[in-house]
Formats: sequence, C-alpha cells, structure tokens
Amino acid sequence: GYAGGASPSVRPLEVVLAGLGRLEYRGYDSAGVAVVGPDGLSTAKRAGKLVNLTSALESEPLPPATAAIGHTRWATHGAPTDANAHPHRVGDLALIHNGIVENYAELKQALLADGAHFQSETDTEVVAHLLERAYTGDLTQAMRAVVDRLEGAFTLLAVHTNQPGVVVGARRNSPLVVGLGDGENFLGSDVAAFISATNRALEIGQDQIVTITGEEVRVETFAGERVEPTAFTVDWDASAAVKEGYPSFMDKEIHDQPKAVADTLLGRTSPTGALVLDELRIEESVLRAVDKIIVVACGTAAYSGHVAKYAIEHWCRIPVEVELAHEFRYRDPIVNPRTLVVAISQSGETMDTLMAVRHAREQGAHVLAIVNTHGSTLPREADAVLYTHAGPEVAVASTKAFLAQITACYLLGLYLAQLRGTKFPEELRDALAELQSIPDKVAEVLSREEEVRAEARAMHEATSVLFLGRHVGYPVALEGALKLKEIAYIHAEGFAAGELKHGPIALVEPGQPVFIIVPSPRGRDVLHQKVVSNIQEVRARGARTLVIAEEGDEAVVPYADVIFRVPQTSTLLSPLVAVVPLQIFASELATAKGLDVDQPRNLAKSVTVE
Ligand code: G6P
Repeated sequence: GYAGGASPSVRPLEVVLAGLGRLEYRGYDSAGVAVVGPDGLSTAKRAGKLVNLTSALESEPLPPATAAIGHTRWATHGAPTDANAHPHRVGDLALIHNGIVENYAELKQALLADGAHFQSETDTEVVAHLLERAYTGDLTQAMRAVVDRLEGAFTLLAVHTNQPGVVVGARRNSPLVVGLGDGENFLGSDVAAFISATNRALEIGQDQIVTITGEEVRVETFAGERVEPTAFTVDWDASAAVKEGYPSFMDKEIHDQPKAVADTLLGRTSPTGALVLDELRIEESVLRAVDKIIVVACGTAAYSGHVAKYAIEHWCRIPVEVELAHEFRYRDPIVNPRTLVVAISQSGETMDTLMAVRHAREQGAHVLAIVNTHGSTLPREADAVLYTHAGPEVAVASTKAFLAQITACYLLGLYLAQLRGTKFPEELRDALAELQSIPDKVAEVLSREEEVRAEARAMHEATSVLFLGRHVGYPVALEGALKLKEIAYIHAEGFAAGELKHGPIALVEPGQPVFIIVPSPRGRDVLHQKVVSNIQEVRARGARTLVIAEEGDEAVVPYADVIFRVPQTSTLLSPLVAVVPLQIFASELATAKGLDVDQPRNLAKSVTVE
C-alpha cells in the first residue's frame, strides 16, 4: 500500500504516516517514507511493521516537507530488509512501487553496463534509476518516458528535490486513487489512505499518469493526452477505520456485522417488497438467458460463493459452479455469452480474481462483480457491480465482508428468481423478509460471545481442530478452519460431514476437537438427522465435539461436549449466523496465544500479484 500527499499548509509526512497506518493491512514486511521540502529530499525506511519506522522517526525526525510519499510492503522481489524497503532513492529522486516489473532483469543489465550502482535487490530500484536518468526538470515528463519501457503491473509514486511541492503517480494494473482536499491533495492505493481527510475522490484509469500539488490535480494518459478523471464520493466515514475501543480490528469488524448485513440490504427493495437492483446494469434479456453461473474468487470470498451456490441453485434453478479464480484462469473453462461470471472480492484488487475476470470476458461471458471497496479495479473491469456495504475492513482475516458478500449473493439469487419467475413471489418475499431479520440474529449471537471466548481460551494449546458441515454448513466449516489457520496458526481442516467416513475420520483420536455445524431441524429433517449421526460417529471415536446448533434443537444434546446456540434460521440463510461463533473462536484463540490478530504472519489482506 502507498500514500502520497502534497500540501504546503499541513504536514504531509503526518498525513502519509496516518494513511500508511490504515493501509498496513495491504502488507507489513517493511515501511518507508520520503519527504521533499526546503531542505531537499530525505528518506527513512525500516524492515518490519510500520511501528519500527514511526519509532525511528521519533528519535531521528525528518526535515519539514511540502510533499511526502510512503509505502508499506508485501515482499515480492527481495527479502523484507531495510535496504529493500521503499522508497528507493537515486540522486535527487525517490520512488515507491507496487506490483512487479517483469522485464526488470534486462533493464538492470543495461543500467549496470551503463555504470549504475544498486543498493537493493528490488525491481523498483531499476525504475528509480531510469526515472533519474530521464529527468530533465519535469517529473511528469520523465515518468511518461519511463513507463513505456516497463512490462508487468505497477503503480509508481515519485518525488524530486527540484519540485518540492509535487508528487507524480503512474498506474498500470495496480490500483491508484486521488483524494481531493482543500489546499491539499492525496494519492493512495485505496481510499482508506486519505479517508480521515476527505471523502472526495477521483479514479485513475489504466495507463494514466497523475500529477498532484496542493492546489492542482492533472491526469493524462501514458501518451500525454489530458484526461478528465471520474469523480466519486466515498460513503465510508473515518470512524469506520478505527478500532473504537476493541482490542483488534478483527473484533471490531466481527461486531460490525449486523450493520454490514443491514447496510448491504438497504435501499434494495421497493415499497411493494420486490427487489430492485438498479446497479445490475446487465440487460434483463441477458440475465434471462443465463444458463450457467460461475463464481470466481479467492480465500474467504470464494467460500461466500460456495454458500451462495446452494441458495442460487435452489431459487433460480441455474447451475452454479464455484471456482478459485487462479484455477479458473489457467485451465480451459467452458464459458460463453450465456454464462454469468460472478467475481467476489472485498478489496476489488485481488490480482488472481482480476485475471480470471479478464479471461472470462475475453471468452464472451458477462461479468458481475460483488465488491466492497469503491474506486477499486474490479468494478471497472466488470460489466456491472453490486457493492457490499460492509465499510472498510482492516483485519487481514475477513469477517464482515464475508457476511456482506453472502448477503449480496442472496440478493442476486432472489433477484434472478424474481426476474425469471422460477419461484412463487411469496416464497421469494418470505426469503427476503428472513434476510431482513438476520442483523438482529447476528447481534444475538454476539451477545453470547463470552461463552465462545471462554472455550477458546481453554483450548489455546490445541494443535489440530476439525470442522464438519453438510450443505451450506460445509463452506461454513471450511471458513471456520481457514480463520483458525490464518490467525491462530493451528492446523485446521473443514470437511463435508458425509465425507468423513471416506478418510478423514482416521484423523480422529481421543480428545481431537471437532466443530460440527448443525442445520435447522425444522427444515429438511433428513439433513439434520444425517449431521446428528456424524456427530455420533466422531464422538464414538473419542472426539471432543463442539456443536453449533439452533436454539431448541434438543437432538444434539446427548452427543455434544459443548453447544454454541444460534437463533433459529432457515438452513439456506443459516451460514450468516453459524459462522459468527467460529470467527470469535479464532480471534480469541489467537489472542490467547499472544498473536497479532489483525496482521498474521506471511499474509496480506489484498494480494495484488498473481
Ligand atoms: C487474501 C486475504 C484473504 C481474502 C483473499 C481474497 O488472501 O488474506 O483474507 O479472503 O485475499 O481477498 P478479496 O479482497 O479478493 O476478497
């Protein structure tokens, strides 16, 4: 992530450091800043989290500045060391970069032959040398000359001693947005960078260069033609990106969930109770003709698609495939104009998902993006976008975005069913009404969080935890296991409960903790009975059973060592409540192990490389 600010009146370094604090979720291997001002150019950078940099700056402050740029990194080329941290300085110029310059090796060869000296192993430093050599008094012009020589994905931000009030950015494939202030302007890899200062923003398109000063923002193409950028207003308020007294962002975001679901539902029904998805700008005739839906996504977003499959197939009678975006992209998928590809992403920047979308569109598919972050890349590349309104999600482990994604998928399913007439209007209306009741039900689960937390603390020495579920409970099991891996570093696996006897049950030895997600006994009895049998099977082999079951479900009592109760909910909608105890469990267990819940090792929230 990166942030840049230009302003003569405020202190740009402070603005940039605050922005980096909100962007640290994008990577936290190392951090650095560069400032320009009356005393010229200075940089500071440190390996490790942002706090290493901020404490270094306290003991050795940088001189006053009129413009600043900063970066927090997730390493691709070169280990996370001080030297490899950005910005990279060459002469009077400093540069930060996001992405990968694919032809850097040959560019570096040429520069070495020409006498350049390198201080790092990064592809970025190559670009810094090129820019420095291209500079003849105008940084924008130098940028224009250099971008043409680069291959791959990059966003670049640069400052130069001779232009102390100017930051120049360039964008290809990696995100870049502008924030418009009053006598100050900002650049960021997403709007979180400047949200505390302004909610007025501009989109920077593919292959564009932007030059900002305190007073002016100028955008042009790589070829130098002026562009009028699209303006948008960010509907997040700054308070959304602070912890508000919770010990971690993850805990705060878990508690944001009733609102995330409610906000995602808001304004999407007509007074008569019908669904209106104005945003869905794909022609109705196309939506009526769709004969296959393919969900592409990664990580938690993919599990939301997996949940949605059950609901969409049930309501719409359209086959739904769910595939990890990177797997979809590099096989030979069968896609045509009657295929609706639904790309789900919190950040809207996951490169694997973007590449899958490009591939799908090349084959003629229509692409609908379900995205949380305004101004991100995915909505620009899709035919239409349905926004989730979860607000900014900061913790690397996704929680509220997951619930909002499932909610948005359900809205899509109900809308398609309404359009195609695959269900009686009453059934759809009932489902929508039940969806409206979910925020209160999630709040009820949260009101009992202490029971889950106490159990998690007691289990802080666990080395393996299994999760079982059937039907929509299966992706919930997968998500529960993912949460535990991501933040508590515990080996955890989710299984389809029916598959247990075909292999995984061999893992069960006395004391093995097993979570079981139990569907509603009021719906399809058979499903409920099958899961209850599965609880008995693992318990008979000595497992310690932790059961997530509906209020009033007495059938599980004899076989459960621990029961976490959730409010009564139809099976199709149950993931929205059943996953919540699993999120709380992972968060508390990670805390009990003394781990950093929000910034787990090796991960980044938004992975903008393939
Ligand atoms: C990363 C994060 C995951 C996230 C996935 C997809 O791997 O660590 O938490 O689920 O990316 O992110 P997206 O922004 O596309 O939803």
